[in-house]
Amino acid sequence: MSALAAYDDMTPSDAERWMQAMRDRAEAALDRVLPGADASPPRLHAAMRYATLGGGKRVRAMLVYAAAEWAAAAGAKADEGDLDAAASAVELIHAYSLVHDDLPSMDDDDLRRGRPTVHVAYDEATALLVGDALQALAFEALAGSSAVERIGTRVALLAHASGSIGMAGGQAIDLDSVGKSLTWPELEAMHRAKTGALLRASVLLGATAAHTPARRESDALDRYAAAVGLAFQVVDDILDVETDSATLGKTAGKDAMNDKPTVVTTLGIDGAKALARRLRDDADRALDELGNGVGRLRDLAAFVIGRSF
Ligand code: IPE
Ligand code: IPE
Ligand code: MG
Ligand code: MG
Ligand code: MG
Repeated sequence: MSALAAYDDMTPSDAERWMQAMRDRAEAALDRVLPGADASPPRLHAAMRYATLGGGKRVRAMLVYAAAEWAAAAGAKADEGDLDAAASAVELIHAYSLVHDDLPSMDDDDLRRGRPTVHVAYDEATALLVGDALQALAFEALAGSSAVERIGTRVALLAHASGSIGMAGGQAIDLDSVGKSLTWPELEAMHRAKTGALLRASVLLGATAAHTPARRESDALDRYAAAVGLAFQVVDDILDVETDSATLGKTAGKDAMNDKPTVVTTLGIDGAKALARRLRDDADRALDELGNGVGRLRDLAAFVIGRSF
């Protein structure tokens, strides 16, 4: 059962098939962009591949491909290699963020994607370097895009979402909040930064791979992406309370164990679920303004909010 049982109004078989195809596509792209496990230094490269391949829902990559489908329907079809580069870039940043998030000095987790975390399977110093190297590789991938006139803007977009104003900043607030109770506006700001920023960047990188959307369209895309980005961490907080470790592939109940303020501690479980549903409505309304080609973005909003893992 999904946390919200809100998976009802999509076409599961068609959406599921598309999602699986995009997961496979992202996996193949990541496999190509990562150095081989025998490249020197082999231990670092093996650990980078361990951290990145063979697991993960690939939601960020799917958002890139889905937003590119919208842009293609609007007449701006992107180069397929550029889309793979953008999808790889956001998944590499995400994989790096997970490796560091699991470190003893952060959430101190030993299970990720159903396997021992990188610092457990390898060691802490390797886990630090894996994060460093995955981040660098993400920007290298994005910088190799064929649409040279947009590379600077796109690299800056991903850098902003990953850095102290985005993911890394959100993680700093998260660590600083241990043992505290945050107000909803404080928690919302933390979640939008630590998780929402990278999901938002994924949508924008997909939508801008081949053209610069008109202002009205970027505003609607941004509203969609902000809603889905926040909803993703809202549901992550719900699943931490309601789902078991085997289903999650990571340690259930970890937020309470680490005394973290979450959407559940701040709004209550029913409040958190109501918020997730409201965010899905917000996402759907934003898509209504974008015309044709939004089907996959709509499927992904439904998946993010209805998921059970
Ligand atoms: C987990 O992200 C960390 C958060 C930002 C909540 P995902 O749930 O997307 O992790 P994978 O990639 O599917 O393992
Ligand atoms: C992590 O949030 C967000 C990141 C930027 C990695 P969590 O700490 O809740 O992620 P999980 O639950 O460990 O996957
Ligand atoms: Mg964390
Ligand atoms: Mg964590
Ligand atoms: Mg979590």
